[in-house]
Amino acid sequence: MIQKCLFPVAGYGTRFLPATKSSPKEMLPVVNKPLIEYAVEEAVDAGLTRVGFVTGRGKRAIEDHFDINYELEDQIRGTGKEDLIHPTRELIGACEFSYTRQKEMKGLGNAVLTGETLIGDEPFAVVLADDLCITDGEGVLMQMVKLFRQFRCSIVAVEEVSDDHIHQYGVVAGELVKDGIYRVTDMVEKPTRDQAPSNLGIIGRYILTPNIFDVLRDTLPGKNGELQITDALKAQAQEGCVLAYRFKGRRFDCGSIDGFVEATNHCYEKFYKAGS
Ligand code: UTP
Repeated sequence: MIQKCLFPVAGYGTRFLPATKSSPKEMLPVVNKPLIEYAVEEAVDAGLTRVGFVTGRGKRAIEDHFDINYELEDQIRGTGKEDLIHPTRELIGACEFSYTRQKEMKGLGNAVLTGETLIGDEPFAVVLADDLCITDGEGVLMQMVKLFRQFRCSIVAVEEVSDDHIHQYGVVAGELVKDGIYRVTDMVEKPTRDQAPSNLGIIGRYILTPNIFDVLRDTLPGKNGELQITDALKAQAQEGCVLAYRFKGRRFDCGSIDGFVEATNHCYEKFYKAGS
């Protein structure tokens, strides 16, 4: 069914300068694991082992991270530190990785369209690694894959956003289908408080049907002159069906300093301190 997950990682990460001057934002560690590794783990847990990255300049550390480092493994053999690298090594073994480059940072819609060459004609997931999702049970992507099996249309994950932050999100209007699931009727990218059609903001988890590529090709640049995935999804919703899903779990906006620090404290308590 869904096998592929696309990770757009080409953005400049300007909110984290100077840390992101020559290192990818997605490699920032939350405690001792880079954001991108949490994201790939979530995809693999959902059965999506064909992993595609849309990269850009200065992002080679991501490719190196998901490659075997024999020299390092040799160095730490017998030191008791093997367990630190073991989960990453398992992840590398479980996945098939492919890469393509976005030439110019023309927005998330453009990044997804650039990824067409890695996806082809099949439904796929998109994960923005700077949205770190922590759950007690099934991961957010797994929840969405199950929903896709039932509805077979594009799905966006949403959460309630306060009035003060609504201008940072794509916001949906929808009709309730059943608990936590809405049929999207409208979408507005980064609305003012007055323009927002609801308080449901889209977070960085999507399942997309492959006709999204044709829709993106026909979509004009939107907010900030960028090709917006929200505009393409709105067109998809008008032609057919797009669902918004209020996922179970907690999401941290690790693209912002505040969210990143919160995530670090949370993961330290939940995974690191609890396990040590
Ligand atoms: P953001 O809006 O967070 O942008 O992109 P950014 O460049 O990463 O960070 P700031 O705002 O400058 O601090 C959301 C996601 O979309 C990807 C980013 O890599 C990030 O994962 N993206 C965005 C692309 O891959 N290409 C683009 O043209 C824009």
